[in-house]
Amino acid sequence: MRVLASAPAKIILFGEHSVVYGKPAIAAAIDLRTYVWAEFNKNGRIRIEAKDIKIPGLTVSFSESEIYFETDYGKAAEVLSYVREAINLVMEEAGQKKGVTVSITSQIPVGAGLGSSAAVAVATIGAVSKLLGLELTKEEVAKLGHKTELLVQGASSGIDPTVSAIGGFLYYEKGTFEELPAIELPIVVGYTGSSGSTKELVAKVRRSFEEMPDIITPILNSMGRIVEKAKEVILADYDKEIKFQLLGQLMNINHGLLDALGVSTKSLSDLVYASREAGALGAKITGAGGGGCMYALAPGKQSEVATAIKIAGGTPMITKISREGLRIEDVTQ
Ligand code: PMV
Repeated sequence: MRVLASAPAKIILFGEHSVVYGKPAIAAAIDLRTYVWAEFNKNGRIRIEAKDIKIPGLTVSFSESEIYFETDYGKAAEVLSYVREAINLVMEEAGQKKGVTVSITSQIPVGAGLGSSAAVAVATIGAVSKLLGLELTKEEVAKLGHKTELLVQGASSGIDPTVSAIGGFLYYEKGTFEELPAIELPIVVGYTGSSGSTKELVAKVRRSFEEMPDIITPILNSMGRIVEKAKEVILADYDKEIKFQLLGQLMNINHGLLDALGVSTKSLSDLVYASREAGALGAKITGAGGGGCMYALAPGKQSEVATAIKIAGGTPMITKISREGLRIEDVTQ
């Protein structure tokens, strides 16, 4: 028997960083997926094959006579530890230990803040649980995905695996999740090609907060209000055009506030401004910043914005919201 499962990437639409201070955040699944095949093997071991997992940071340098390649194997090893923990958790849950081969391909760049680790964990849990005959609900998969993150990272809000397992839009506040109706957002994600450290960026904001609480607190409060307002707009009975225009405006304000917190970089801001000039209604950082990704809301202008992102030095990914989270793609007996 062979099972193929897939799970989507996520973007934080609104509320990164302020969420660390107890404010809400809205995240959404996007249609970039990680695919995991799982099958039994005869040697009784767990074998993980990572065929194409979009690792950034290939550096090529030249000397007179030689070409040097450097890849980021550290990031690949990290991805594999999510897969290993996910398989162990499912086997524990099923009360079975068997030889399983898991093979991964992914459209999600690793270390870009798009939740690639959570997607690989969720797709692995989906594929291996199906293989072992364990029927898990999407909520149960999300919980095991969160457990996997806790085992590998030590701490996690659970946003990434929850969005990846369930799909659509999620409103997150102080540890609880609420599903929002998924609206079609024509977006373009722009990847700077480098990654920021979430841990260091969170610590940087914390230092500013401690040094100047009277200045940083109102910024965080405004960010929290932006998220509430965005939720109101998503739920409101407005025309699509009005929703897009209001959400775009909120994205631009949120980006400005993230910049004020010091988590933007020149390359992120270049991609944000290039997108706006090419006709995006809004553009902002998504995730921790310091590199990683931004996204633009660009109804009718996705290809223009993608070109602008490319010219500004980024990698554009035209995508849309994925209403579906974990998906069992194929089961062959
Ligand atoms: O790096 P990402 O995309 O997982 O986003 C981190 C979001 C922060 O708010 C900066 C940190 C957090 O733990 O919520």
